[in-house]
Amino acid sequence: GTKRTIIDLKKMHKQNEPIAMVTAYDYPSALMAEMAGMDMILVGDSLAMVALGYDSTTSITMDEMLHHCRAVSRGAKKPFLVGDMPFGSYQSSADKAVENATRFIKEGNMESVKLEGGVEMADVARRIVRAGIPVLGHIGLTPQSATALGGFRVQGKTAEAAAQLLEDAQALEDAGCYAIVVEAVPDKVAEYITQQISVPTIGIGAGPQTSGQVLVYLDMLGIFDRFVPKFCKQYAKMAPEIISALQNYTKEVKARSFPAPANCYPINDEQWNLFLK
Ligand code: KIV
Ligand code: NA
Repeated sequence: GTKRTIIDLKKMHKQNEPIAMVTAYDYPSALMAEMAGMDMILVGDSLAMVALGYDSTTSITMDEMLHHCRAVSRGAKKPFLVGDMPFGSYQSSADKAVENATRFIKEGNMESVKLEGGVEMADVARRIVRAGIPVLGHIGLTPQSATALGGFRVQGKTAEAAAQLLEDAQALEDAGCYAIVVEAVPDKVAEYITQQISVPTIGIGAGPQTSGQVLVYLDMLGIFDRFVPKFCKQYAKMAPEIISALQNYTKEVKARSFPAPANCYPINDEQWNLFLK
């Protein structure tokens, strides 16, 4: 395959081909996502919780995000790369938002940024788009404002809330977002929104009729399994495999059965005898 661009994403949407997206946080995860043929990679601020052990996504900084973006960009050359703007990097002013979005491009080697919020963030999104940076929107469950939402909970479950979500999606489309993440929304609502707007929706916990899907790398591989949301399918259960490999290693170290001869560097007898003399 070749490098995915905005044009390819548009084409896939037009041809009704679902867009496959996953998060990645470092070089090996990016390499493997690329080898798996992923269309898009998100360096999500979910990394705060699943890879850095923070309690929420709100504490991660621009510098921490950019550090991970650079690692991902070194591993993935084909997927379209999106950097997730962290909490506090785009809310205070549109100027600040454009400045920080620019850092994702110049310092993080990303091709696009994502920010959370609907109608209230549309002007900020528009300003970043006007600065020449493609923006991925994000509506529904927006983890950076989980506290304000009263926790990690499904959004758009009432007629009023569903109507608000549709308005949010339309505002982001109007602002120039090339696609919109829709998180934790009833599948019927997500499908309806997808039909009503002309840019692709990327669903997570939003049913099968969005224009694409995104999952969190460490969740879907069963590496981070302290909390697995209902919407996350575990395509592998890696944690028990990893723990058992680490246990075997520990056991073999204690028993001196590792390293085996195959893992050792020989010195030839002649040199060894010379050395002993
Ligand atoms: O941070 C993240 O991983 C995300 C995706 C779940 C969309 O925002
Ligand atoms: Na995020």
